[in-house]
Amino acid sequence: MNVAHAEFVLSNTKVELCPKSKIPEYAFIGRSNVGKSSLINMLCNRKKLAKTSSRPGKTQLINHFLINKQWYLVDLPGYGYARVSKTQKKTFQKFITNYFIKRKELIAAFLLIDLRHKPQTLDLEFMRWLGENYIPFSIVFTKADKLKEKEIKKNTSEYFKTLKDDWEEMPKHFITSSEKSLGRDELLNYINQINHSISSN
Ligand code: GTP
Ligand code: MG
Repeated sequence: MNVAHAEFVLSNTKVELCPKSKIPEYAFIGRSNVGKSSLINMLCNRKKLAKTSSRPGKTQLINHFLINKQWYLVDLPGYGYARVSKTQKKTFQKFITNYFIKRKELIAAFLLIDLRHKPQTLDLEFMRWLGENYIPFSIVFTKADKLKEKEIKKNTSEYFKTLKDDWEEMPKHFITSSEKSLGRDELLNYINQINHSISSN
């Protein structure tokens, strides 16, 4: 799929204030700094559509980006950022979980994981929470450019070994690098397929 058009639509902290148009949307979630905003830019072939930073905690709102005037990509704040206050963490958590539970237009989530690290409790817990709430998700491993091919294979298989404790069926996964545009076609084709299956129903 070609991304011919990508535009920022709006930001907010309230699911009630998200765009009213009933079109499919796909959300990116994961720890702060894992590369959510960078991935959105990579998919859209734009450098500064979503704001990125080397310092964690950059994205603080629910951001909707309209793609090809037909569907949304949604950039969300990261979780697990140690330097925000407890109250701020709770507020974040609240509006993120509200978004996932209440947003009817959400078709699927992409949970981003940095493949350089061992499986982290916060990510595993978040996956469980998505499962308990019947929210479909895939795993997107990020920053693959920082690892050698062999390490990618080894770390992916170790990751899935851990997931077997929780899941009977493994979630779909993508290996990506926003630096190298790796995984772009696979992710866009996957979204495209879902969009087609929705519109033909
Ligand atoms: P928050 O908004 O704070 O939750 O972070 P985020 O998940 O949106 O991460 P962001 O896209 O802002 O990227 C964080 C840092 O990681 C930036 O310095 C990016 O340049 C870097 N980064 C993101 N993706 C990649 C990648 O694929 N490869 C490399 N080498 N660096 C990346
Ligand atoms: Mg971000």
